[in-house]
Amino acid sequence: MKRSRIQLSPSRRALFLVLPSNPRERGAARLPAGDVLRALGVRRALQPHGVRRADPDRRRAARAGHGRAARGVRPARSDLHADLGRPELREAIAATYDRVTDEHVLAFAGAEEAMFWALQELTGPGDHAVVTVPNYQSMETLVLRTGADVDGLVLAPEDGWALDLDALAARLRPETTLVAVNFPNNPTGAVADRATFIALAELCDEHGIRLFSDEVYRGLELDPARTLPQAADLSERAVSLNVMSKAYGLPGLRIGWLACRDRALLERLERRKHYTSICNAGPSEHLATIALRTGSGSAPATGRSSPPTCPSSPSSSPAGPSTSSGSPRRAAASASRAC
Ligand SMILES: Cc1ncc(COP(=O)(O)O)c(C=O)c1O
Repeated sequence: MKRSRIQLSPSRRALFLVLPSNPRERGAARLPAGDVLRALGVRRALQPHGVRRADPDRRRAARAGHGRAARGVRPARSDLHADLGRPELREAIAATYDRVTDEHVLAFAGAEEAMFWALQELTGPGDHAVVTVPNYQSMETLVLRTGADVDGLVLAPEDGWALDLDALAARLRPETTLVAVNFPNNPTGAVADRATFIALAELCDEHGIRLFSDEVYRGLELDPARTLPQAADLSERAVSLNVMSKAYGLPGLRIGWLACRDRALLERLERRKHYTSICNAGPSEHLATIALRTGSGSAPATGRSSPPTCPSSPSSSPAGPSTSSGSPRRAAASASRAC
């Protein structure tokens, strides 16, 4: 059987492990300890000639994504901010809110990852949470998994799926830390009444309770007048969840985010993200930024956005993009028709 061996590269700067080309022999190949030791000896001998072992601090820093900084090179913008989401993306996301800036946005690999960490950060054993029912299952199951006690606040068809704030208030306890809602609701499509939703944010603030608002279907309301304000705009403590998958129609990018004006919370969540995606794929963030800049011109209820640009569309076209459509998807669809 052929033996594997260690060979010095022609440039004398690297060592190769040469394995037998036959897969069966390769599978059975063992690298004799003597070869490894000899190779290490070779490396030591070569160090004065420029072959160096990577400095362990540098290796650790490179693994943590800060290799450039550790080498004394000023980190590129993308290196510094990769874990939070690129600045361009966070700016484009922030522009879809009224009171949120880029520093209040943390990007994730989809809404699911954002929800996974946010709900675990906001609840734990001994806590109590109220979650609207019916719901997208993660919203309830993730909270239950933390050991928190969960109460369902039922949205009933006979009440027109209305959010009953009195019923919610009756369920609050001293240990309630979280109220989690989802409008437009999955699976019912229900949208809370605007005044009730604003009152909900106020009620949570009064009790020091965190409002977690899953807004991933926002912008897909049949009646744009029903589009709700975003929780992160209503309250400094509230957390808004959104994603490119639904209203923006780009599920393959796997770009989601949390918006919250409580920076300390976002920092804790950023650290948690290091155990899952660490950071998003750069191409996805880039494409999401383009889509948001184009489509968010009609993002509902933001006073800051400008209409999507479509150089070739005749301004009088009835199919042209409308800034009052209230829906990024509707805007994207009408923009593409017009273009
Ligand atoms: C209400 C709701 N929230 C969050 C998610 C997760 O979204 P994504 O799969 O894009 O991360 C979904 C997905 O269907 C959903 O319906």
